[in-house]
Amino acid sequence: MEKSEHQNWRSRKVAIVGAGAVGATFAYAMAQNGSADEICLIDLNEELCKGQVLDLSHGLPFYPTINIYAGSEKDYADADVIVITAGAAQKKGETRLDLLKKNSVIIEGIVDQITAQNSQAVIVVVTNPVDILTKIALERSGWDRSRVIGSGTVLDSSRFKYLLSEFFDVYVGSIHAYVLGEHGDSEFAAWSMANISGVQLDEYSRQLGIKDWDHEKEKIEHEVRNSAYHIIDYKGATNFGVGLALVQIVSAILKNQRRVLTVSYHLEGEYGIENISLATPCLITQHGVESIVGTELTDDEQNKLFRSAEVLTSEYDSLKA
Ligand code: 2OP
Repeated sequence: MEKSEHQNWRSRKVAIVGAGAVGATFAYAMAQNGSADEICLIDLNEELCKGQVLDLSHGLPFYPTINIYAGSEKDYADADVIVITAGAAQKKGETRLDLLKKNSVIIEGIVDQITAQNSQAVIVVVTNPVDILTKIALERSGWDRSRVIGSGTVLDSSRFKYLLSEFFDVYVGSIHAYVLGEHGDSEFAAWSMANISGVQLDEYSRQLGIKDWDHEKEKIEHEVRNSAYHIIDYKGATNFGVGLALVQIVSAILKNQRRVLTVSYHLEGEYGIENISLATPCLITQHGVESIVGTELTDDEQNKLFRSAEVLTSEYDSLKA
């Protein structure tokens, strides 16, 4: 007898570690996206987890078919993607790097539980400082670098696109633009790669007769870099933007999309950088990062990428010292 479709069917499962604002907002957005069949929320705070699951489950009639439940470390075993959002949040006035000490211990504990379950998942680290914690998770796991990635600057790139869209009054989907490097203070806008439907922004701003474009560029880049600080000042934390950025990353994995996203990925000589995870454009498949989409940076951009690598390496070294 031929196998029925049902027998061939395999559920696509996302485990979310951390049921706080970021984890829950991501779960909410992911449930609506439709590319996962199961979402499992895991948190040491069982009451919080139960509450979030119950609240999310009340949307079941309105999502595409999905199963949402509270789980435990056993759920790492058959998850396709494990998204780690657990950890202390960034407080007012605190940089992402201030969080490093607290959160590295938490991440190592979670990764130990994941590897103990012999999981074949792709790990996506979101907890800040995301780049260093991605490297720590990778080292702790002993896995191939393709499977331990971070959310990187996917959110920053979308903030950049949003601001360009506002500035030029062009639909955001027609704008291609990337923020690279650290997800943090040393990140930079890769202006040489930014374009509106193939037209370089320097050229487009010339066509529009924009005065002092260089100054406008600085303002936009500054705004991108400080977006999170502003939101934290206003409302204490960020959650919606990051939730949707995570949907892009996780659905690219679940659907084997071969989408290019600026996730945090461990560099081993690419761009002349060794042994640190940071954001560059990467090709995402069901197995995680298949490759870096190597791009020709200007000297200035390359120096900024080196600078991000230096900042991250010295933070990592000070943690390990
Ligand atoms: C953000 O950029 C704080 O990493 C968080 O929104």
